[in-house]
Amino acid sequence: MKVWSIVSQKGGSGKTTLALQLAIAAARNRKVLVIDLDPQQSAERWHAIRQRATGSKDDPSVAAGPYQKLADMLKTAGRLGAELVLIDTPPKLDKAIIPAVKAASTILVPLKSTILDLQALEDSLDLINLGKARQRAVVILNAVPAGRHKETAIKDSLRAASRLKLDVLPEQLSDLPALALGLKTGRGVTETERHGTAAKEVNALYEALWARDRADAEAE
Ligand SMILES: Nc1ncnc2c1ncn2[C@@H]1O[C@H](COP(=O)(O)OP(=O)(O)OP(=O)(O)O)[C@@H](O)[C@H]1O
Ligand SMILES: [Mg+2]
Repeated sequence: MKVWSIVSQKGGSGKTTLALQLAIAAARNRKVLVIDLDPQQSAERWHAIRQRATGSKDDPSVAAGPYQKLADMLKTAGRLGAELVLIDTPPKLDKAIIPAVKAASTILVPLKSTILDLQALEDSLDLINLGKARQRAVVILNAVPAGRHKETAIKDSLRAASRLKLDVLPEQLSDLPALALGLKTGRGVTETERHGTAAKEVNALYEALWARDRADAEAE
């Protein structure tokens, strides 16, 4: 069972959006669980909308709980045959983050390119280091702007990650309103606009992360 924890100390970096979009894309052909460790419970609350939209089909399942229950929740997920667990975490120093980091086979660090986001990357890395998990962490460039700002945004983000010796996934997510719009009605972009740019990017990201995680597992 793969466990992907989404960690960033910066509020609004795209953790929950990434968790839900990846979970929906993965749930097409795998058993997927989202664990919401954020006290805001955005993912858990969104699940009610999702269930209304899909007629209560649990694809993906979403469970919320205190971090003290994480180990039990993961054990249950394994027993029920989950192939992928995505853990959404809070944007502030919180006791939930270290257990989520330690439990992860891959840690996803969404990174937007504003100076405020880039400055906060080091805080996220500090937490990942506390969980001794730097090797399993990968930065995902998020909300990459289109047009003339694109090149600078990517360059700035790559520089910040490289300064901290963090891996960056070549696949990235552009700044696309579609990623938020569909979620409003409980749907992911891989469902609402299957052939659109956002769906292509989410699918590519998911495939790359899956392949990377498998490669890591084999290397151990
Ligand atoms: N690639 C993207 N393109 C456009 N908008 C995006 C993208 N990723 C995230 N957003 C938007 O950014 C905002 C914050 O996203 P989200 O709630 O997923 O972040 P978060 O890291 O979970 O926030 P928090 O730290 O509060 O939990 C939302 O309005 C979301 O729609
Ligand atoms: Mg969130």
